[in-house]
Parts: sequence; structure tokens; C-alpha cells
Amino acid sequence: FRPLTLERRAARLAAAADMWDLRNIARRRTPKSAFDYADGGAGAELTVRRTREAFDSTELLPRILHSTAAADLTTTIAGGSSALPFGIAPTGFTRFMHAEGEDAGAAAAAAAGIPFCLSTMGTRSLEEIARCGDTATVRNPHGPGRRWFQLYLWKDRERSADLVRRAEANGFDTLLVTVDTPVAGQRFRDVRNGMTIPPQLTLRTVLDASYRPEWWFNFLTTDPLHFASLSNTSTDLSTLINSMFDPTLSLQDLEWLRSIWPGKLLVKGVLTAEDTRRSLEAGADGLVVSNHGGRQLDRAPVSLKALAEVRQEAGPNVEVLLDSGVMSGADIVSALALGADFVLIGRAYLYGLMAGGQQGVARAIALLEEETRVAMMLLGTATIAELQTSGQVRVPWLP
Ligand code: FNR
Repeated sequence: FRPLTLERRAARLAAAADMWDLRNIARRRTPKSAFDYADGGAGAELTVRRTREAFDSTELLPRILHSTAAADLTTTIAGGSSALPFGIAPTGFTRFMHAEGEDAGAAAAAAAGIPFCLSTMGTRSLEEIARCGDTATVRNPHGPGRRWFQLYLWKDRERSADLVRRAEANGFDTLLVTVDTPVAGQRFRDVRNGMTIPPQLTLRTVLDASYRPEWWFNFLTTDPLHFASLSNTSTDLSTLINSMFDPTLSLQDLEWLRSIWPGKLLVKGVLTAEDTRRSLEAGADGLVVSNHGGRQLDRAPVSLKALAEVRQEAGPNVEVLLDSGVMSGADIVSALALGADFVLIGRAYLYGLMAGGQQGVARAIALLEEETRVAMMLLGTATIAELQTSGQVRVPWLP
């Protein structure tokens, strides 16, 4: 086993022209059960497929002779600024995908000047991520890295309250409450792969290790102890998640969180006008239109299609974010032009991570930044605000 040098890693990443290339590199370098856990969706993966089809069906309408010398990608979201109109979505078990895990995400996000959201199921603590962001900030031209925290409500409310208090104490400025996971989605790829946390030593994992020595070396030298602390025996993810989260999450819980969290509160997983209204009535500051990347309820609506309904109910002054399926700058531009204020990336970040740790996440962010910039220049829009109001997108599902 010969560790790859950072230079070789950089050359490999530079050869990725787009996110799909990065995904291919990720697939080659990551054990199948870890790649499929990140890449897969729920059920027959219909929502995942329909999401891709919806993004691919948008038409962007360029304005010619509308001189735009440069595109300004900076924006504001949840009471702070962001150098780019997207941030990193919360993902669980991230160090299972690559040993650098959340450290890589938080550092790359801070360096790019965009928010990083830590998950309740993250494999780093709030305190560790707080420190990690600070270190990255030392060289950061964009100022302090913004950290958000995503909360799943535990059956034990005191444990949730403790997380919320620690998020506040560690400088996390925004809380995302995920409401679409009363139980774990059924992800059949994980079942077929026999995926467990921590991974079990089987003939399959030993064979896999011989193809991906770097991943296994990193995993064996950094992670097993942490994963073992999550459960005494190897457990499949659904069993693990269902034993921890509270399926009875209600509006009263949201009101309770509002009363104990002083920062911005976003409800993640809203897809309808009714849930928009209820979330706002319970005190949410904003909404994340999300179907959890098609990983929870298969056949749930495509976020991009649900966006107009949520935006209409929320009105122009409530911040509406979107995630699920964003793989390119054209996807980001489409979402913003259809009424989103900001976009979150889940898998795109993880593909970068699996392809090359922190450098890979930086590459994923750079790809999306450049694609967004070029798309805006070609559209003739100079700012994010202009993009949101200039009506330069046409979609088959809206008149
Ligand atoms: C997620 N997502 C997620 N969401 C959340 O609120 N808490 C979590 O712990 C996780 N964990 C998680 C793990 C993995 C591997 C993925 C891919 C996703 C959902 C995530 O925040 C986001 O909603 C989706 O990833 C967005 O879709 P794309 O960008 O992955 O297509």
C-alpha cells in the first residue's frame, strides 16, 4: 500500500470536468456499500429519477445584447452572507464515505465562504466542527466560515435540548429541523449490500479492501472505534435510526424548539403549501424544500416542482431554500430562477469527498461555482437577485 500524494490526488480531481466525472471517481475509490449508501435513494428510486428528469427539462432563456461584464455570486441567507448561492447539506455517517468526513466538508466550505451544515447523525461533534471551521478560517479570504446544525428530534427530548444548547454555544447560527424522517426510508441498495454500521468483516469486505486499499487503510486507522460507539454490534441503518428518532414529531415540538433556539430556524423537508403554512405558524424563519434527495418517501414530489407552491404560500419575504438532485450550475441557476433563495448540495459534496477528501470537496464546490458563473454570464444576469426576478427559466409543469 502506497499512500497517494496530494499532488496525484489533485491531478485526478482536476481531470473531472463535471460532477458526473467526480461521481465516477468516487465510485471507483469507495467500497460499494459506502458509495451506494450515499448515491442511492428509497424504494425503486423513482423520486431520484424524476428529480433528474425535472432538472433536465428546464429551459434557460438567455438575454442577448445585455452586457454583463461579470457575474456576482454572493448572496445573503439566514441572516448572514455566503460567497456562493449554495451550501453543504447535512449528511449522516460521513466518515463512512471517506475518513476525512465532516472535517473535509467544513474546511472546504469555510475556505469557499459558504455555510456547512452538520447533521445530528454526523460523525464529528459540534465542538469538533466548531474548531475545524476556525482553523480553516485562518487562511480564509471570505471571513469566518458559517456553521449550521441539523436536528433530528430524539425520543429523549433532553438530549435534543442539549444538542441545541451546544450548537448555540459553539457559534452555529442556523438550525435546520428535519421533519421528513419519522422512520428511516427503505433503501434497498443498502439491504442488498448487507450494509451495517460498523461494517462487518466478510469475504465481500475483504475482497473490496484489496481493490480500495486507501479507503480501508484510512477507515481502519481512524473510524472503527467511533462507529463502534454508536452501537455495540453491527446494525443495519434503519434499525439504528428507528431506535433513536421520535416518529411522533409534531407542531408542538417545533414550537418548543423555537422557544429554546434563538438563531434562525429552518424546517427541512417541506413540499406542500399546507406544511409551509403550518411551519411558519409554528415559528420557522424559513423552509427547505426537500425530499431528502429521494431517500425517504419514494414517489414524494420532486423538490424543483414543489418549489412554486411553497414559494407562493410563503410569500416573497420568507426565505425558501431547495435541495435534492442538484448536480450542476445549471441546476442551481434553474432553482434560483424558479424562486429558491439558496440551494443545498448533499450528494455533490459527498462525491467530491469520496473522490478525494477535502481537496475533492473543494473541487466539487469549484465545479459548481464555475458552472453557475458561466450560466449567469450566458444568461446575461449579473447578480443572484436579478436571476431570481428576471423570469429566465421555462419549465414544462408551469404555465
Ligand atoms: C442525507 N440527508 C440528510 N438530511 C438530514 O437532514 N440529516 C441527515 O443526517 C442526512 N443524511 C444524509 C446522508 C446521505 C448519504 C445523503 C445523500 C443525504 C439529506 C441531505 O441533507 C439532502 O436533503 C439531500 O442530500 C439533497 O439531495 P442531493 O443533493 O443529495 O441530491
